[in-house]
Amino acid sequence: EQIEKGGYEHFMLKEIFEQPKSIHDTLRGRLLVEEGIIKMAGIWDNLERLNQAQKITIIACGTSWHAGLIGEYLIEEFARIPVEVEYASEFRYRNPIISEKDIVIAISQSGETADTMAAIKMAKEKGAFVYGICNVVDSSISRVTDAGSYTHAGPEIGVASTKAFTAQLTVLSLIALKLGKHNGHLSNQEFMRLITELDTIPQKVQEVLDTTHEITKEIAKNFVDAQNFLYLGRGYNFPAALEGALKLKEISYIHAEGYPAAEMKHGPIALIDENMPIVIIAPKKGHYDKIVSNVQEIKARKGKVIAVVNKGDTQVASVADYVIEFPETSECFSPIIASVPLQLLAYYIAVYRGANVDQPRNLAKSVTVE
Ligand code: AGP
Repeated sequence: EQIEKGGYEHFMLKEIFEQPKSIHDTLRGRLLVEEGIIKMAGIWDNLERLNQAQKITIIACGTSWHAGLIGEYLIEEFARIPVEVEYASEFRYRNPIISEKDIVIAISQSGETADTMAAIKMAKEKGAFVYGICNVVDSSISRVTDAGSYTHAGPEIGVASTKAFTAQLTVLSLIALKLGKHNGHLSNQEFMRLITELDTIPQKVQEVLDTTHEITKEIAKNFVDAQNFLYLGRGYNFPAALEGALKLKEISYIHAEGYPAAEMKHGPIALIDENMPIVIIAPKKGHYDKIVSNVQEIKARKGKVIAVVNKGDTQVASVADYVIEFPETSECFSPIIASVPLQLLAYYIAVYRGANVDQPRNLAKSVTVE
């Protein structure tokens, strides 16, 4: 096992550090910037069907569901197809409106999640075309879906999903951009700008690992005894906030909630006092001014702000208690980069609390029961 961990203390840390490579592997052979194309057989073979979809419903659980929420933003922004995102466990037990004109995208790292599997079966019975996004090759979900794309993140051993999540976001970005390019909603110029940027993501993830690892480790020491945490983000980074909170809950057993930053005033603001740590994701591109005022509201109530901001940020950084910087990118790709320090923060808080990071209590890597 020590050999498999490649010198890292835990699989989770190894997998966090593998992300520049796993994202690169997800893009390899698909993103051909010089030729100005995205090559994905599963999408190409079904392009017409996908682009003519009345609506796309994304079904998934846990972290994969968070990736699905970001997928909704991506597909609606670039391909202009209406998207709904559902927990597989809810979808399967109601009577959703699904027809032959609909596309269902099922996202699953393991490809074995029982709720997702059952939801796929139901969608198929209703005549929908089901597209799978799985990490484990030849898994049950990859076999039962009509078409699909693998994430190619490599085996993920840690129960808390990290590299599979960023690979899911990468595949969803490729799909959204490819659909948008072919249905004409995305201009060639914009498509080229975005794929050129997407190509730099593995390198930017490497940069964020190099520059935030030690800082995050230090920051984590201050929160070993925290009892609650809030995670806030807006736009594309609202689901990243949900995912950051889930990571912390799973491995450190600290109660954490993710919220869209603007929702804070509708309730969670009542929780803020000097004992409440708040992680706030505030990249320059993406409602930055609004986030600045959210941070000021928190500071006025003495909350402890851990700001995840772009390199060189001064405005949020000047009022935050702790600052984690990440390289700038287009807003749509920013969750891929911003999620990395959140994974590290959850990891180190859990390690300092003496928790079993790779096998948290009560959790299994794939949930094959209802
Ligand atoms: C992630 O950290 C979790 N352990 C969990 O939420 C997981 O994402 C969920 O069970 C779905 O798993 P899947 O992607 O293998 O379907």
